[in-house]
Amino acid sequence: MTLNQIRALVADDLATVDRLLSEQSRSEVDLANQVARYIVEAGGKRIRAVLVLLCGRALGGLRHPDASFMLAAVIEFIHTATLLHDDVIDDSEIRRGRATANKVWGNEASVLGGDFFYSRAFSMIAEIDQSEVTRILANAANAIVEGELLELMHARQIELDEDQYLTIIEGKTAKLFEASCEATARIEGANDEHTQELAHFGRLLGAAFQIADDAIDYLEDNPEADKSVGDDLAGGRLTLPYIYALREAPKEDREFLHHAIQSGQREHIGEVCAIMHRSGAIDYAWKRAREFAQRAQSHLNVLNASSWRDALEEVTEFSVSRRY
Ligand code: FPP
Ligand code: MG
Repeated sequence: MTLNQIRALVADDLATVDRLLSEQSRSEVDLANQVARYIVEAGGKRIRAVLVLLCGRALGGLRHPDASFMLAAVIEFIHTATLLHDDVIDDSEIRRGRATANKVWGNEASVLGGDFFYSRAFSMIAEIDQSEVTRILANAANAIVEGELLELMHARQIELDEDQYLTIIEGKTAKLFEASCEATARIEGANDEHTQELAHFGRLLGAAFQIADDAIDYLEDNPEADKSVGDDLAGGRLTLPYIYALREAPKEDREFLHHAIQSGQREHIGEVCAIMHRSGAIDYAWKRAREFAQRAQSHLNVLNASSWRDALEEVTEFSVSRRY
């Protein structure tokens, strides 16, 4: 299934979430309005919102629709805040198919735009008014920042191994996927077993999603890309394909990779992509992503069979077969 087909299953719910995103993006301050409208209108995959809606439906129906829609919007806002900050850190130029906010308004406005979304998200969490949901989201936000700091600490450190990489992506990406599923289960009043299983599902799916993202960053000639590629190299970020190639490629290629990641020069991207390809690093990353996706799917067994559960499986399939 394509992502559009998956989204079509929850089209009405998503339309409500989109309305909330627009309403909640409004501000009395013109610059906040401009940055917020720009990035919200650009869309994005909305995959975290889709997870909230599908998990809610799969657990027996959106019993508290207002809270679920608000949660979906909150998660998208936290995600958008992280992207605004991330694009400043990575000095990225393209996001969601358009120039990044940092390129349009500069770094200061982009950081503050991220802060706007982040703080607005916490006002919305207050409206959900469930202490368990607040705890899950506050912990997730904290874990994201820690994951990002860990990544920064290890920039250009070629000793970084797979386990350390997995710890980084668990914080920076998997945690918000986990929170989407876990908080939804809480809103639905699911029992502890269902809640834990869905939390595991989200965490493993999030890891699969980020590994795929890191493979996509080294795909040459990828017409589907809707954001800057080669940023990981430029920022000295050791991601899974790079870690694999630094370990497995022939000596000459390993030396080149070593030099390329230390210098962070974008002109090396073509040769780096070629090495990634011929060393099997890209294949390896996709294989690992699929393993995580399969492990994620095994946790869906706790749910009764339904078209919603099938759709959650489709989300995992999409996450590791996409090229954008
Ligand atoms: C994308 O990584 C980045 C993240 C998933 C997390 C970024 C988080 C921060 C910058 C901390 C700010 C946190 C809050 C709560 C406001 P990537 O660069 O690998 O992905 P990309 O290819 O989409 O840029
Ligand atoms: Mg980035």
